[in-house]
Amino acid sequence: MAAFRKIGILTSGGDAPGMNSCIKAVVNKAYSMGIEVVGVVGGYAGLIKGDLVPLTQQSVGSVMSKGGTFLYSSRCPEFKTEEGMQQAVKTCHENDIDALVCIGGDGTFRGATDMTFHGIPSIGLPGTIDNDITATDYTIGLDTSINTTVEIIDKLRDTCESHERLNVVEVMGRDCGQIALYAAVASGAVAVAIPEMPFDEAAAIEKIRTLRAAGKRGMIVVVSEGMFNPDGTPYSETLAKKIEAETGVETKFMRLAHVVRGGNPTVRDRTTAAEMGVKAVELLVAGKSNVVMCQLDDEIVPVDIAFALIADRMYKNKLKDGDLDKFTAEQIEKMKALSKKRQNEINNLYKVASDVGC
Ligand code: ADP
Ligand code: F6P
Repeated sequence: MAAFRKIGILTSGGDAPGMNSCIKAVVNKAYSMGIEVVGVVGGYAGLIKGDLVPLTQQSVGSVMSKGGTFLYSSRCPEFKTEEGMQQAVKTCHENDIDALVCIGGDGTFRGATDMTFHGIPSIGLPGTIDNDITATDYTIGLDTSINTTVEIIDKLRDTCESHERLNVVEVMGRDCGQIALYAAVASGAVAVAIPEMPFDEAAAIEKIRTLRAAGKRGMIVVVSEGMFNPDGTPYSETLAKKIEAETGVETKFMRLAHVVRGGNPTVRDRTTAAEMGVKAVELLVAGKSNVVMCQLDDEIVPVDIAFALIADRMYKNKLKDGDLDKFTAEQIEKMKALSKKRQNEINNLYKVASDVGC
């Protein structure tokens, strides 16, 4: 007999292409095990309000190809209060929801942990375009967002060539420069600026001057949104103005922003999402919770949420006093290895970018 009668599923935080694929996988796997699934509309806000929709294999039949999340998403500060949490738990009890699958980023996983501690076993799935969760090599949505970014930059390049212009393109990624790095390499940018690495502005400007003198017509510079001026304003626009002023190259600026979060998910995002969704149901049924599904060296494995959150802080050099106290020496070593691996990935990608002329 199944361990659960009903699983609730929600998408929370920034949406990501591939979230629908996750939902479909959870629904299909759960029903194959005799478990019902109910969708929570609008993330944790929907859980507080009791905004639920029954999901069946029929109702999720054609959602896989669609971007966004058909269950909608939200950022819900109320959920972080004890009152909000109690209301969310009440919704679960009143609707016979025995467990939750929560798709989102680190904030969403914190919510999943709180639900677990309040008696509703929950599992997180990493759905964010930023690929900024250190415990997993990959987050659902990255591949689609990079492909969309490159598709747009290719179009910008066409018109830059025609008009002998440069385009500075600001891309998303919060404080993680992966989207910028992949996009720069794949689109043949002449420079890329990311928060994880020092940016030599003078060298980039000199390079642009030299390239133009040598006859290069169209040029692209990619800047991650995590780059700021000392006064906190976005660096990308400042750089665009500086390039034009100092090189005489006509320079346009474009902020891609949310457009790269939409669109039909790529095969990679659909399949990774599906695999993670299936594993999440299997684990819940096996009695496991409070974990996030991670892709590590091509395998989908559960990682304790507390471990994943602190590994992130370690990578970002944001550890607070006492953060490591409840972890064993072995776990701390694993966190260090994950942080190093992530830094190496960025370094290697940055080197590729430099080697190909970014
Ligand atoms: P993401 O999941 O993409 O990181 P957010 O940080 O906005 O996005 O988190 C999504 C939601 O998760 C929040 O709106 C809130 O409802 C919930 N959440 C965030 N942080 C916490 C926390 N510390 N405790 C409980 N719930 C949280
Ligand atoms: O985390 C995904 C992301 O798209 C980031 O790249 C970006 O900084 C942020 O979300 C934007 O958030 P919002 O949708 O709330 O504007």
